[in-house]
Formats: sequence, C-alpha cells, structure tokens
Amino acid sequence: MSLTKITNIDALELEDGVQNAAFQEDEDRPHSEPAIVSFTGQEEVAYTQIKPYAGMPKEVLMLYSKQARYRVPREILFWLIIVCTLVLIGVTIAIVALSPRCLSWWQVSPVYQVYPRSFKDSNADGVGDLKGIKEKLSHFDYLNIKAIWISPFYKSPMRDFGYDVEDFRQIDPLFGTMQDFDDLLASMHDKGLKLIMDYIPNHTSDEHIWFQLSRNGTEPYKDYYIWVNCTEDKPPNNWVSVFGNSTWEYDETRKQCYFHQFLKEQPDLNFRNPLVIQEMTDIIHFWLQKGVDGFRMDAVKHMLEAKHLRNEPQVDPDQDPSTVDTEFELFHDYTYSQLGLHEILTNWRVEMDIYSREPGRHRFMVIESYDYEEIEKTMRYYGTSYATESDFPFNFYLLDLPDALSGNRAKELVDVWMKNMPEGKWPNWVVGNHDKPRIATSAGREYVRAINMMLLTLPGTPTTYYGEEIGMVNVNVSVIQDPFGKFNPNNSRDPQRTPMQWSDKINAGFSDNETGTWLDIAPDYDTVNVEAQQADSNSIISQYRTLSLLRGAELALSRGWFCYVRSDTNVFAYLREMDGKQNAFLVVLNFGEDTETDLLSVSELPDVLTVHLSTTPINQKTFSKSRIPTSKGQGLLLQYSTNKRFHSNHASECYVSEKACYFPALDILYKC
Ligand code: GLC
Repeated sequence: MSLTKITNIDALELEDGVQNAAFQEDEDRPHSEPAIVSFTGQEEVAYTQIKPYAGMPKEVLMLYSKQARYRVPREILFWLIIVCTLVLIGVTIAIVALSPRCLSWWQVSPVYQVYPRSFKDSNADGVGDLKGIKEKLSHFDYLNIKAIWISPFYKSPMRDFGYDVEDFRQIDPLFGTMQDFDDLLASMHDKGLKLIMDYIPNHTSDEHIWFQLSRNGTEPYKDYYIWVNCTEDKPPNNWVSVFGNSTWEYDETRKQCYFHQFLKEQPDLNFRNPLVIQEMTDIIHFWLQKGVDGFRMDAVKHMLEAKHLRNEPQVDPDQDPSTVDTEFELFHDYTYSQLGLHEILTNWRVEMDIYSREPGRHRFMVIESYDYEEIEKTMRYYGTSYATESDFPFNFYLLDLPDALSGNRAKELVDVWMKNMPEGKWPNWVVGNHDKPRIATSAGREYVRAINMMLLTLPGTPTTYYGEEIGMVNVNVSVIQDPFGKFNPNNSRDPQRTPMQWSDKINAGFSDNETGTWLDIAPDYDTVNVEAQQADSNSIISQYRTLSLLRGAELALSRGWFCYVRSDTNVFAYLREMDGKQNAFLVVLNFGEDTETDLLSVSELPDVLTVHLSTTPINQKTFSKSRIPTSKGQGLLLQYSTNKRFHSNHASECYVSEKACYFPALDILYKC
C-alpha cells in the first residue's frame, strides 16, 4: 500500500500560534516545493515545512512517524529494550544457577539445650519453669545463640521428669500454663530465637488417658499399646528395658503384659496401629500450628519391635539368663531400629514441610538415637536421595572423647562422622546433654575450654547443654531423683541436671526458694556462675561468646572447608578455609600433655600465624608454624592470610558440606 502523494502543502499549514520549535529551522524552505512520502520509507522526503499541530489526522501523523529522525531512535529504543530484557533474564538465570544455598537458621546458630526444671525458677518453688526461661532470653543474645531446644514441659507425673507424658497438648502446671508457653514463644520469635520442642513418640505416661482406656479394653484405644498374653511371674520373652529389668509389666486390670522400653510407668505406644500414627501426627500439627520451630525426636529407635517376640541373643551366651537385666547384656535385634521406622519418620518430615514453606520458617527435625556401633544406622536418619528425613541425627560420638582423651582420639571421633555422613549433609556435634556427664567432670575442668573451642570451630551445628558455657560440673546430689539412678546409682543423671548457676546469690540466682531447689546447687557456684564470668574477659563464657560470634561472622568457620592438619597423642589440629577468602584459621587443641607442634612441612600455611584466641593466657601474639607450643588442655585459634588452598592439595583430608566460593570484588558467594 502506498500513500497518496500530497502536493498541495498549503492544505496542511498549521494554524497561527501552534508553532513547533523543532520545525523553525525549516521555515525558509520554499512553499512551492512538493513533499513526497512513501510508507515504505525508502524515499527520504523533504517534508519539513509541515509543522505538527494539535489534532493532526492519523494519516498525517503516520507521515511524520516514518521520518528517519523518528524512526531511527524508535528502532534503537526497541532493540535496546529487547537486549536489556534478554540480559536481565540471563543474569537472573546465572544468579540462580551460581548462588550457593543460603544456610538455614539451624545451621547458622548453635543449638542450646535448656533443661526446664533447672534453668530458671520464676515462682520460687525450687523448680525451673517457662516464665523463668523467658526471663533469661538475653542470655542467648549474649552467647549469639538463636536455636533453643527445651526438654519436655508437657503435663506429666514426672516419673522420668517429663519424658513420661500424660497429655501432649497441655503444659505441666509445674512449668506454667499454655499462656506462659504462648508468651515465651512470642518473646522468642520477637528476639529472632527459634524454639525446638522435645517430641516423645515412643511412649506415654501410664497416666495418659489412652493408656487408661487401653488398659480396660475400650475401643479404639485397646491396641494403642503393646499387649501380650503372659502370666504374672513369666514375661513373654527375655527383652530388657533401657532402665533395667524386664520390658514387660503384668497389668492386673487387663490380665496381660504391656511392653515398656523405659520405666514401667512409660508404656510403649503401638506404632503398628495406624490410629496411633495418626494421633501422634496430629500432635505434631498441634505444636507446629502454634508456631514451634522444630522437634528433637526422642528415643526413636525404640518405636517398633519385632512382632514375633523371639528372645534376643545374649552378649555372653554363657550368662545365666535369669541374671540378664540390663540393655548391655543383649543384642537388640528385635527391639531397636526395626523395619518401618524410617517410613514413619519420613512421613512426619512431609507433615513438617507443610509448615516450612515461608522463608525463614523451616521446621527443624533432629533425631536422638544412640547407635554407637552402627554408624550407618545413625546416618540413615539423614534420609535418602529420594526421601528427606531429619535435618540431622544427633552426633554423640564426641561424648566418648573423655574416656580416652588424646589428639588422635579426637580426630578419630570427628572422622567417624565426617567420613560416613552422606554427601551434602550437614554435620553436628554434641558434647553433653541431660543424659550424659558434664565435660568438666568426664574430661576434667582443664579441658572444658578446648572442647568448647572444638565444638564451635568444627564444621556444622554445635549443641551446647546449659551450663557448659560456664564449665559446670556434675554434682553429687544428696537425694537421688532420677529413676535410672534409683535402679543403679552409678547411672544417675541427677549430677548433670543441677540448677543453672547464674550468680553468687541464694541458690546461684536460680531460685528464690529458701527451702532449697529440686536438686542441690553445685558447691562451686560462688565462682562458677554467669555473672562472675561475664565480668571476666578470659572466662569460659567470654571465650565461648567470642567463638560463637566469630563462627557467625567468618565464612571460613561457618561454611568453609574443614581439613585435618595433624593429630598425635597430644594434639588435634585442623584448619578452616574458604576458596576466594584470604582469611583462614588453624585450630590447635591439646588433649594430652604440654607439647610443641611443628607444621613446617605444611607448605600451604604461611610462616607466621597470628593468635586470635588462646584458651589459656599467653604472651605471644604470633607463632612460627614450625613451633606452636600448647599446654595440656589449651586450645589455640590461629588466624592467617593466604591465597594457597590446603584442600586443593589434600582432598582426602578435607570436607565441605555446602560448597561455595567467595568473590571478594563483589563481596558475594557463588557456586564453584
Ligand atoms: C531419651 C531421653 C531420656 C529419657 C528417655 C526416655 O533418651 O533423653 O532422658 O529418659 O528418652 O524417654
């Protein structure tokens, strides 16, 4: 289509006063000159005499729009927009593809375990409570800790101090009310803290309504527990409970035996009954809907038992069977880690994931399962490539360190985890909890600082049991409260559960009760307490804080490579480095006798290393890598700057979970 030639230019003359400055320069052009345009735009037409005017007809407008002065910029703009859009899409794809995964809250912060009976008593009854925890939230801020696991506070007859639950949806009055819980959770969230609850699936209290109804055969509760025919004096088989003696208890009402892996007041739930699974799943939903951030899943390996009920083999086949009454005397082929367990756990993971979709709201799952001899059983709790399970199972291997303290032993225990952990998973480290002796007692006070340094500089999530940040010791309590201790005083867990030592005031600042506290206060509380240690920059708590802050601030420590450098009878040394980052750290821990470590042969280390922190006072600010002296129990954190990467030359000595490289020019991390 071509446009009609316009020859009578006068017909398009603008009205007076509707001048366009852009056209002024063309006004000298003779009016008689014809203007010819074409829609093909091939012909450049002298068409400048016409001045645009308001209300121009479309056809005229079209004439203008084809002029080079309009067309060229328009086309340039058009292609610019296309190119920019493509570049933006490309950059976005590149950023997504090159960005390493961000660490989640449970990876960034240490997990701090609060044993609620012993943390802080707000109502002067001698027992800690939820309001008490709320009063002390600033403690976590001080320690730079964001993830708090609180041991059970459900309604409970307290035979096993809360691990015998009477009602999973109620707070025990000893700890407060549901309102207190809601207030605590809200305050924690306000402060950016996450609350991890204890979840106890294996058993309930015998005072739980389900057990009461099951005992008298009421449907649908009849098979909520494991009932087997037996006589009063003859249990169905030789199975023994974790707390000692037979796992079977004859029930007068039902005239059958019920099964309990722990106390007889803690009957095991029957996880072969779908109704039980549903009930326990509903409880997970109940607390997630309330807003809790995760669960520590208690004693899960005990959840299922073999249906055939065959005797378990004795560790010593020659032992008189009638004397077998502790768990260590049997192999637990039929009562621990039975088939079907992981299916239940992965399904719970799926339920938890429903609540994990908002950013920063990942609901965390950690598993408690002591499988010392069978590391692959522990690792299985990480899930498989096709089904996720827990974020991690607790790593209890370092609990064995005090039994045979040495540099080699420390490396060996760390390495058990590192070399067996599935690729890309996140490690974690536990050095104490409410079931195990405190490190100041099991390892000795002189090793507490070095063990804390190790905990906070290893790769992965550290777990700190309350009081370990000030080096609390086990206390020989005057009256045994723990049921396990009542079976055998050597097994008592009371000594590691004594009240937190906040200050040198009455009851160590834990409680105002003048008649005492539920467990005795440690005699050393006048010096070993939070207040005193906070005032001393060389104290255990001050060093803990320094390390915790550093761990949060230094990429090499939070997500860098972890490489073994040296281990011998005395020393365990490792380094933390990140590709692209010059700042790296060497950790030298002495778990033996005074010694000097020579790392001259480690060519990737610079000759001089700067002391960032020493757990014992030293005068030197730097060390030559060929002479690094450490004394018994000393931990040294040395800092250095380098472009050489140790892991590039020693791949078999190094591990990394969430691999990333640092790009200094832009101060960003990228996948590499
Ligand atoms: C877990 C708890 C322990 C408790 C047991 C029975 O192992 O850590 O304290 O006694 O389960 O619930």
